Amino acid sequence: MSASLQWGGRFAAPPDAALIAFGSSLEDDLPLAPFDVRCSLAHVEALEGGGAIGAQYADALRAALAQVADEVRDGSFAAWARALGAEDVHGAIDARVRELAPEAGAYLHAGRSRNDQVATTLALYARDRAERGARHALAIARTLCSAANDEAAAGTLLAATTHWQPAQPVLLAFWLAAATEPFVRAAQRFTAARKAASATCPLGSAAVAGSTIPLARERSAAFLGFAAPSRNAMDAIGTRDAALDVAHAFVRAVLDASRVAEEIVLWAAPAFGYVRIGDATATGSSLMPQKRNPDALELVRGGASELVGLYGGALSSLAGLALSYHRDLQQTKRLCVLAIERGVAILDAFARAIADVTFVREAMNARAADGYAVATDIADALILRGCSAREAHALVGERVRRAEEEGRALDTGDLAALASAIGVPALEAPLDAAASVSAKATVGSTSPDAVRASLAELASEIAALEARL
Ligand code: ARG
Repeated sequence: MSASLQWGGRFAAPPDAALIAFGSSLEDDLPLAPFDVRCSLAHVEALEGGGAIGAQYADALRAALAQVADEVRDGSFAAWARALGAEDVHGAIDARVRELAPEAGAYLHAGRSRNDQVATTLALYARDRAERGARHALAIARTLCSAANDEAAAGTLLAATTHWQPAQPVLLAFWLAAATEPFVRAAQRFTAARKAASATCPLGSAAVAGSTIPLARERSAAFLGFAAPSRNAMDAIGTRDAALDVAHAFVRAVLDASRVAEEIVLWAAPAFGYVRIGDATATGSSLMPQKRNPDALELVRGGASELVGLYGGALSSLAGLALSYHRDLQQTKRLCVLAIERGVAILDAFARAIADVTFVREAMNARAADGYAVATDIADALILRGCSAREAHALVGERVRRAEEEGRALDTGDLAALASAIGVPALEAPLDAAASVSAKATVGSTSPDAVRASLAELASEIAALEARL
């Protein structure tokens, strides 16, 4: 058996080195190394607890694994595993333990297969990254929510659009709260994925059928912080649900970030001039000296497609795969890890970039009622005076057409004309953005009271989620 492989006795000739290199997942696995060390320590618990090894070997294994943990931290383990030409990080850690503690090390893999090792390590990794995801989502939610509170106090107005066309005036705080909500849901998704990833421990399932070696599975499960050992060895080694759930949570959070990023990218364009991206975040051009580009936010936007692709690939690697372990699951692992690592980086970048955005209040306020954005409120006023919705829509539409022809905004003259059209002495309706916003009467609307109430709820939900971390 070659040092780099954990198998070989039944083969007369050595394997094709190119095929071993082709099948190696070492580079993709390296983020899993610290978790595999913990998984191996847990297996020592199971072996010792079941009486399969004595305290002397158990202690020797623990000492060797502690050293491997140090080597993982200082980067020397990665170099060692690369030089060994290991098939994967799981085999490499086993090999390094055997090198450090040859006698005891030869027992580490008793009652264990890479199949249960991979499944357990990947679940531990997924759980850790789910926590990071929740932290990032909550940090983003906090930043957006606190900006919303500032803008609520300032009363900043914004021309809300649908289809990118002027729709109705809103408070900028309302837009910021709308941007915050998805990150609270993202944090909930990460928290749920972390809990699911902590439910059952695959370790001790061995290759597919469990083991004849007595393993204290409760002990290894508890050591790793799982609620219980898994119930079915075949399912435990064949599922990648934990990693997929966490990858999904990252894809969704990054999609949310990409939508906010897109709007800010547009707002940063001089044609809008709604925001200024700080010097620490903006980037220049190698040719055009005046440039101030929002590259970080563009990369967040583009990163969403990247993650969808990686996650889609992980899902399709499972299509039609029979139960139990198949090497295709190595690709599932690779794609989940890539998506998750990229997701962590993108959320971190997004958190930094949005904290460096300043709103140009005057520009937003000045344009909040552009494009006849108060037309709906005027139609509503007619309805409140007994007009049908259809009639009100048609009457106000005509006033908008006329005002547009005359190159002016809707004004008191339009209100007087509408009042006489429906036979009332006068009509009161908002004609500017601030009045429009204040006139809103429904729960969840952009009225200052509703926005303040929603921000208070958001802040307490964020605090409750932070407390659960
Ligand atoms: N490198 C493999 C993976 O990541 C390890 C499992 C190999 N198991 C096996 N039966 N060949 O999935």
